[in-house]
Amino acid sequence: MSTHPSRIKSTLIFGGAAIWGLLLVSCVMTSRTMVAPPSIPGATFVGSSKCTQCHEDVSHTFAGASHAKLIAPGGKDQEMGCESCHGAGSLHVKTGGAFGTIVNPNQSPETCFACHLDKRAEFSLPNAHPVMSGKVTCGDCHDSHSGSAIKGSASAIEAQNDSCVKCHTQQKGPFIYEHGAMREGCVSCHNPHGSVNQKMLVARDYNLCLQCHLQTPTASGQINANAIGASAANHTTRAMQGTCWAAGCHEAPHGSNTSYHLRY
Ligand code: HEC
Ligand code: HEC
Ligand code: HEC
Ligand code: HEC
Ligand code: HEC
Ligand code: HEC
Ligand code: HEC
Repeated sequence: MSTHPSRIKSTLIFGGAAIWGLLLVSCVMTSRTMVAPPSIPGATFVGSSKCTQCHEDVSHTFAGASHAKLIAPGGKDQEMGCESCHGAGSLHVKTGGAFGTIVNPNQSPETCFACHLDKRAEFSLPNAHPVMSGKVTCGDCHDSHSGSAIKGSASAIEAQNDSCVKCHTQQKGPFIYEHGAMREGCVSCHNPHGSVNQKMLVARDYNLCLQCHLQTPTASGQINANAIGASAANHTTRAMQGTCWAAGCHEAPHGSNTSYHLRY
């Protein structure tokens, strides 16, 4: 076959992400009734422009942020931006920013769950980032105030990896033999929120690797792990014995300093 399997995969990833990005943007641009923002007893909504007075640094980048066009129920339309996450701001403004008068979403993921209902379930899966216990926050990986909320989205996968290796320094490399998969992003193998699979893997068996190392279907149903660019090696027996990253196999899925084949 002349078509390069990794290139097909890249086209799928990048092509898919581009369409997905457009859909998201158009959702954000469309008026959309949201779930109620966090409530602050006694406070009323004042609108984003009031915040600019004291938080110029945050406000001036916000126009380009994913969340800039959110609309909450109860009128105020465009002006609901800041307060959709921080809650009604009248008391905060009146007191000149007194402690406890505004919501800081870093203190609890509940602010984000109010609109992203499905995320509560993802972070409750058996293997998940410890967001519920507060050890990791949504803000560690997402930018609420500027640009795309997804740090380094599809156009800059490397930047997205950067946000992961800030904490996971062991996966940072550089490795003498880096696994080509790293260039496609940590999320090609890990679900960043949570998963039923150990280590938050997107698949728990050889299918994780066959996403890219396409098996070549044969009449006998043989499983060929295609060492991209080289000839396919018959892995039928090995694949039945366990995962591709089991002891004695490819134990270094991120990269290796000693083994081209990522054995250890
Ligand atoms: C009159 C000035 C003033 C205005 C107007 C103002 N703030 Fe503040 N804000 C402050 C001060 C002072 C602090 C505390 C010091 C700091 O963190 O900068 C603060 C802190 C905050 C914090 C951090 C709170 C925490 O517990 O960590 C948030 C979030 C915030 N403001 C959001 C807003 C939003 C949203 C608006 C618009 C509705 C707004 N502010 C309007 C002065 C103001
Ligand atoms: C999508 C939710 C969201 C929106 C909308 C939002 N913020 Fe925030 N804000 C956060 C989160 C999360 C934090 C915690 C720190 C972080 O992750 O940056 C925060 C922190 C803050 C802080 C305190 C820490 C800091 O960075 O100085 C201020 C002040 C603030 N926001 C102001 C604003 C203003 C002003 C607006 C509107 C222009 C706004 N926010 C819109 C989510 C949001
Ligand atoms: C008032 C409702 C609301 C709140 C609160 C909210 N979001 Fe969102 N968020 C949205 C909407 C609407 C979108 C657009 C995509 C969609 O339709 O789901 C979005 C999109 C996103 C995206 C994808 C953005 C992109 O550029 O592709 C991320 C990531 C995200 N939100 C994270 C957060 C985080 C983290 C918080 C808490 C700090 C938060 N959101 C709070 C409504 C909200
Ligand atoms: C460990 C990093 C990390 C944390 C913590 C995290 N996210 Fe994400 N999130 C990501 C990455 C990376 C993506 C992009 C996934 C992709 O490209 O496949 C994403 C995508 C999203 C999206 C858009 C796509 C989707 O799945 O709907 C939303 C919305 C979102 N996150 C919300 C949240 C909220 C809300 C929280 C906190 C409760 C949170 N995230 C915590 C890394 C994280
Ligand atoms: C703010 C720091 C931080 C960031 C950023 C971060 N993580 Fe994590 N990650 C953690 C913590 C804390 C744990 C839980 C470790 C534990 O339970 O021992 C964890 C666990 C994991 C695990 C499971 C490890 C295990 O032994 O079960 C994987 C896989 C993982 N993270 C991948 C990622 C990816 C991919 C990203 C980027 C999208 C990312 N992380 C971003 C802090 C972070
Ligand atoms: C080719 C798929 C793949 C990619 C890409 C990938 N990982 Fe992994 N990762 C794995 C596998 C498989 C394991 C489980 C290893 C094991 O159980 O021995 C793992 C385990 C982990 C662990 C748990 C610690 C450990 O070594 O067991 C962390 C943390 C982690 N990965 C973070 C990352 C980060 C951060 C990135 C991106 C910079 C990344 N991974 C990219 C496949 C991948
Ligand atoms: C996101 C796509 C992707 C995934 C998923 C993936 N790989 Fe790779 N892999 C690559 C690319 C790209 C190369 C580099 C090929 C080249 O340089 O020609 C590579 C190279 C390798 C190599 C070194 C080349 C060789 O012939 O020995 C090994 C071994 C390998 N991968 C094993 C794995 C294992 C094990 C998994 C599952 C844990 C996996 N791969 C998952 C894309 C991927």
